[in-house]
Amino acid sequence: PAVAAVLPAGGSGERMGVPTPKQFCPVLERPLISYTLQALERVCWIKDIVVAVTGENMEAMKGIIQKYQHQRISLVEAGVTRHRSIFNGLKALAGDQPDSKLSKPEVVIIHDAVRPFVEEDVLLKVVTAAKEYGAAGAIRPLVSTVISPSADGCLDHSLERARHRASEMPQAFLFDVIYEAYQQCSDYDLEFGTECLQLALKYGHIKAKLVEGSPDLWKVTYKRDLYAAESIIKERIS
Ligand code: CTP
Ligand code: MG
Repeated sequence: PAVAAVLPAGGSGERMGVPTPKQFCPVLERPLISYTLQALERVCWIKDIVVAVTGENMEAMKGIIQKYQHQRISLVEAGVTRHRSIFNGLKALAGDQPDSKLSKPEVVIIHDAVRPFVEEDVLLKVVTAAKEYGAAGAIRPLVSTVISPSADGCLDHSLERARHRASEMPQAFLFDVIYEAYQQCSDYDLEFGTECLQLALKYGHIKAKLVEGSPDLWKVTYKRDLYAAESIIKERIS
């Protein structure tokens, strides 16, 4: 039974504060997204990798695929939010696009283009759990305590750090469950939601299993993260 992956790569990387979207920023002269694609390609049981990029970056992405000889990649147009980009990727996999050579997988992995250090063991863990529960995602312990500010900028309440987790990527879903959830959900969800597991839970009537991720799953967000990525890559090749 087939497994495919959807990689949202249509963001502009505002928090990084550089003109180039972070997924295309060079790390040791190679665009960040190329490392992420490489990490997924190493996993032989991932059949198709669907990458969502903006029209503006489509040609650049094709160039990267060619230059670094990436395999099993299909490109789709990104949406204005991450959820919309993912939805476009799922539509391409659903097999109801007339010119699509993709076929519907049993399980779909969703992974950010800007988390280059994903490893096979965590991918396998989320896929195995998704088959059993319907949905699964990697989590990490919280670094900082999460608080809720009130409207006047004072502390409303804080969450007990040990009882909460950070939701990371990758996540995996039974394809029919997550595709149905995206079709059912509201425009509000697609605009403001940041959590695919939550959508699956709300519209999919499944359980979302949480599995331990590794520290290197962190998302490249700020400029200093590019230096961290660089030093991890150097460490791995030495
Ligand atoms: N993403 C996407 N389509 C969007 C917005 C985001 O495919 N409309 C992707 C990003 O390219 C990234 C992933 O979703 O791979 C995680 O999002 P995030 O880290 O928030 O990236 P950006 O939105 O690009 O960064 P920022 O929020 O700092 O602008
Ligand atoms: Mg964003």
